[in-house]
Amino acid sequence: MKLIIQNGRVLDPGAGIDRIADLLVVDGRVAELAAAGSLAPQDAEVLEARGRWVLPGLCDLHVHLREPGEEYKEDLASGARAAAAGGFCTVVAMANTKPPIDNGELVARALERSASLGLCRVLPVGTVTAGREGKALAPFGELRRAGAVALSDDGAPVADAQLLRRAFEYARDFDLPILSHAEDPRLSLAGQMHEGAVSTRLGLTGIPSVSEEVAVARDIALAEYTGGRLHVQHLSTARAVELIRAAKARGVRVTAEVTPHHFTLTAEAVAEYDTAAKVMPPLRDESDRRALIAALADGTADAIATDHAPHSSIEKDVPFAEAAPGLIGLQTALPLALDLWRQGHLPLETVITRLTSGPAAVLGRQASLAVGSVADLVLVDPEAGWSLNDETNQSKSRNTPFWGRGLTGRVEATILAGRLVYARSRSPIWLGAG
Ligand code: DOR
Repeated sequence: MKLIIQNGRVLDPGAGIDRIADLLVVDGRVAELAAAGSLAPQDAEVLEARGRWVLPGLCDLHVHLREPGEEYKEDLASGARAAAAGGFCTVVAMANTKPPIDNGELVARALERSASLGLCRVLPVGTVTAGREGKALAPFGELRRAGAVALSDDGAPVADAQLLRRAFEYARDFDLPILSHAEDPRLSLAGQMHEGAVSTRLGLTGIPSVSEEVAVARDIALAEYTGGRLHVQHLSTARAVELIRAAKARGVRVTAEVTPHHFTLTAEAVAEYDTAAKVMPPLRDESDRRALIAALADGTADAIATDHAPHSSIEKDVPFAEAAPGLIGLQTALPLALDLWRQGHLPLETVITRLTSGPAAVLGRQASLAVGSVADLVLVDPEAGWSLNDETNQSKSRNTPFWGRGLTGRVEATILAGRLVYARSRSPIWLGAG
């Protein structure tokens, strides 16, 4: 099977590639990068990419696909379709399903089902604790053998420091990172949104920044003490960024992610009691948002991750205090990340790195267009305007404050191991067999 993507701007900062070129894919791998217009299309399918970027397939370290148990919100098929439409070839699926992914059989089932769908590479996470109950450790060896790539009780922290210490030691032996939802449950007790001026004005109970900072400090201390690998999820505060920056400088094995909603929005987004903007951790202050962008700029944050968290109207069309936290993010991540470049906050190479090789490296994987790499790639029209609406949305859910908003930068096609898994339209870019 041959595929030529012709005349695109091939952009892969990790491999030092930025040039207008033809890219040849043979049997699912990048076979050649040649001068634009130089590859003869005999026996090959051809994608015309003039005016478009050709990037490595994006990698998302944080999605909730809700299968098994809450398929009315999302399932592996709809989640994978949303991922492919967002340019993601690899997504890391959280374990807070119903039941939670706390044994090898559930990991194997997720892998088999997503492989048979063939739309996106879904990498399952196993829980840290059995049943996600925070009482006893899950069987890490069994989870790892079945294909789990990391461990997390995401949605809730592991509150018991002794249990987490043992988890780091045990996970270290299997070389699995622990993805930490860093929150002190006592400090954020019953909180609805960020504790600050907006929560006071709205009369909602606040979640103080220090709830995250206490947990990040504890997790870093435990990772440092045990030599385990810590990945801090959905960073939201300036002080948490400082803690990670200092830990990295000391050589602690810590990585971190920032979500598009935390680097784009602040607590003001909640001002109309908009439940679409209710997330955990909450949207914070402008100074936090600026610090998160700085963390992405200097590599303190390795990755942009969506925390794609679908909920239905049952959980969201209710009073703010009763609404479930979370928003969908797979299809809006790339345009929101590109805004950081457009607004002059980050160089384009940094934006692409934090969506591709940065997150892949957290898992010891690669996302590259270098010759010989698996041909996971995405074609992007950087100037196209669009919006997420009932026509474009691929998720089963529509809970996002970015619904209907103007976005710039559109995924035109996504290719997974050399196969077209998403095309916005079959023409004009798809030229078919040569
Ligand atoms: O907003 C969130 N939603 N944060 C989490 O940590 C969990 C997630 C979910 O599962 O809905």
